[in-house]
Amino acid sequence: MTAIGLTVNARFVKASVEPRTHLADFLRDNLDLTGTHLGCEHGVCGACTLLIDDMPARSCITYAVACDGARVTTIEGLDDDEIAAELRAAFAREHALQCGYCTPGMLISARDLVLRLAEPDERSVRAGLNGNLCRCTGYVGIVRAVRTVVDQRRRRGIAPIENGGRQALGPVGSGKAKNIATADLAGGPATRAEIPDGVSNASAIPDFVRAKVFSGHFTVPYPPGRVFEMLGDIRQVAACLPGATLTGAPTPERVEGAIRVKLGPISADFRGAARVTRDLENLSGRIVGLGSDRRSRSSTQGEIRYHLVPTEQGAATRVELSIGYSLKGMLAQIARDGLVRDLAARLTADFARNLDRHLSGDRLAEAAERPADLNGLSLLIGLLRGRAMKAIRRLLGR
Ligand code: FES
Ligand code: FES
Repeated sequence: MTAIGLTVNARFVKASVEPRTHLADFLRDNLDLTGTHLGCEHGVCGACTLLIDDMPARSCITYAVACDGARVTTIEGLDDDEIAAELRAAFAREHALQCGYCTPGMLISARDLVLRLAEPDERSVRAGLNGNLCRCTGYVGIVRAVRTVVDQRRRRGIAPIENGGRQALGPVGSGKAKNIATADLAGGPATRAEIPDGVSNASAIPDFVRAKVFSGHFTVPYPPGRVFEMLGDIRQVAACLPGATLTGAPTPERVEGAIRVKLGPISADFRGAARVTRDLENLSGRIVGLGSDRRSRSSTQGEIRYHLVPTEQGAATRVELSIGYSLKGMLAQIARDGLVRDLAARLTADFARNLDRHLSGDRLAEAAERPADLNGLSLLIGLLRGRAMKAIRRLLGR
């Protein structure tokens, strides 16, 4: 059990919790705050949305222990809140709820929009609510209710508040430190100075609990020693990875860079840093990184472990990969397991092909074919083509 202290709805609470307890369970089971609803418990439906340090967050994917020192506001804490009161009235007026299961989370997200939106623009409202699912009402009434409140407040001369008035946000739940996401909210690309405090050197990039893990492998027709040497050259590794660029001079232990992805409707340009460790004796290595994307307000931590296995009497190398990551923010809402898995598989295949070319010295051909970034459309087409082929094979019984 871990002792924590946090402020919930303006009341300081001390508790002892299991490290695995998520915030929603803690609030519902320990504090009887059952207004926070649980739907998917995977960070997808938005039913459990509440405010952590004034920022909407999914309480089902936030550990209670991560909220030590944080300020948490649930729907119960908004009883006397002016905007929440206006939204409740508008939801009733516009028939924006039926069973009401999604409503607490919907109201928290809607309140954040009302604070920030300059105009009651339908598209912005829909985009802002796209992380909250409603299974029974549909969205027309909900969107109308939110637009009405924004409109009425702006007509009354109440100006929007940039970033919802947030000054300094910690990593969700910490309530303590300025982090990449904060810097991103303030605008401008992440730079070295925006990397979280304490992450100014390689060893300070923290380990993390890998929320998703999957593995892959590929084989290249070169001896393990040569492949290991190549994987130690960060510049060459980055050159083999579609969409990746270095943003600083790498050292053997640390690299700063960016990778551009486009997944469905969301483009993301993740910038961050990684620490690199290698084990010559076991022909293995590990890269642990963290990064964030300003536009999609998503952040990620990831880890790649590789192990080189000699094959064909040492003439070829099987590269075994284990990839783990955790993802927060808008991208987490659309990045279904299957999609990320397919994406990683294609990324691995592209990387293997480029690595092969680098090792063979065929860089001209690679440069001509290498896409400028990790193009979402080409990836998506590739993924769809792959899935269509699988479906056809299944239909044909092959
Ligand atoms: S229950 Fe948390 S997002 Fe669905
Ligand atoms: S009102 Fe029932 S899920 Fe939204």
